[in-house]
Amino acid sequence: MIEAKGISLRFPNGTMALNNIDLQVEPGDMVYVTGPSGSGKTSLLKLFMGIEYPTLGSLKVLGQTMTKGQTAGIRRLRKIIGPVFQEFRLIAGRTVTENVMLGMRFLDLPQDQLKENASHALVKVGLEHKALSLVENLSWGESQRVAIARAVARKPVLILADEPTGNLDKDNALNILELLTSFIDEKTAVIITTHATHLIEAEHNSKVIRMDKGSLSWERLG
Ligand SMILES: Nc1ncnc2c1ncn2[C@@H]1O[C@H](COP(=O)(O)OP(=O)(O)OP(=O)(O)O)[C@@H](O)[C@H]1O
Ligand SMILES: [Mg+2]
Repeated sequence: MIEAKGISLRFPNGTMALNNIDLQVEPGDMVYVTGPSGSGKTSLLKLFMGIEYPTLGSLKVLGQTMTKGQTAGIRRLRKIIGPVFQEFRLIAGRTVTENVMLGMRFLDLPQDQLKENASHALVKVGLEHKALSLVENLSWGESQRVAIARAVARKPVLILADEPTGNLDKDNALNILELLTSFIDEKTAVIITTHATHLIEAEHNSKVIRMDKGSLSWERLG
């Protein structure tokens, strides 16, 4: 699903956020990206989402080559990946359901179908009772669940979640990891960045990678 060969990301101000990274992700994988603040975790996900492009090396996501010239293909790719951003990006003044439906606006589906998908996703994340609340009235953990519902409502085959456990106590963080794990099947992979290394469980096809100043290494589980 992801084939990264020797990718680097250098921002225009000269910061080397990622340095010569090789990574392969297969359907069914659960990949945890760990490492200290500023080590390149979000940058890595941004490359997979097509928000930034590698300045060196080659990257393919679900067969799509990720380069600047490929905007049409990358626009199609965005319909089948489910991004959960570190800062959520929920739209204030809109309800929970409306926010989840907005995540599917690229999908050319009739309104009824969008509503039904949104309602299923909200049940899945345990927030059906907040469907009509405005997003600005939610707690941090609830907002996180809306962001996850918005990402999964389009039934993506690749879920990319940036720090979904940040700010949560241990029980809630575990619930979120369990929830994200529940979306893995033989055609779906999940990639999660997290500081909460003590919560990572060696189950499913979990892989743990550690970022350090833009370099990647594999971590042994258990
Ligand atoms: N748009 C940008 N322009 C220049 N430098 C950037 C930009 N975005 C990130 N950086 C730098 O790239 C490096 C990696 O940042 P990144 O956000 O990927 O770290 P992170 O591991 O996600 O950190 P955190 O755990 O705090 O979220 C940092 O040094 C950061 O300051
Ligand atoms: Mg980050």
